Amino acid sequence: YRCEAVEMERTLAMIKPDGLSGKYTEAIKEVILDSGFHIVKETEVQLDAERASVFYAEHSQRSFFDSLVKYITSGPVLAMVLERPDAVAQWRTLIGPTDAKKAKTSHPNSIRAMCGLDSEKNCVHGSDSPESADREISFFFGEAESVTVEHDEL
Ligand code: TYD
Ligand code: MG
Repeated sequence: YRCEAVEMERTLAMIKPDGLSGKYTEAIKEVILDSGFHIVKETEVQLDAERASVFYAEHSQRSFFDSLVKYITSGPVLAMVLERPDAVAQWRTLIGPTDAKKAKTSHPNSIRAMCGLDSEKNCVHGSDSPESADREISFFFGEAESVTVEHDEL
């Protein structure tokens, strides 16, 4: 018989301060688990402005940057490493478009439609590529440990 390997992928999901304080955590986790993700790790942290600026460095020249940093530091966030095949794209699909207000009409079943408010207060984050996922997972959880697997010779 043939056994085809299914390639697992990881992404970084984050519940933003309004999602946590609005008590959406359990509802969001239910969607995550019902969608075939495994929650590999999670950590609740309060970011300060310096750390938030590193996380969102790619947006540092945008007009919304200062407001975004203020929002993301307004309370703790819950960062999670999610795993499943095609995790990055699948999580982005689940959360819906950046503007939560538009999501409510265009993607009513998305997470941002459920708990977001507008293009800033959109409740959740998702890595936009496998490379971003690696960087963002390291940001919250440190560098992945290198694992050495030793096989006994038979
Ligand atoms: P972006 O990476 O464009 O969106 P996404 O989170 O969907 O990958 O922007 C990062 C965050 O910046 C976004 O989640 C909310 C905030 N933001 C604003 O506050 N105003 C804006 O106009 C945009 C585009 C983003
Ligand atoms: Mg983005």
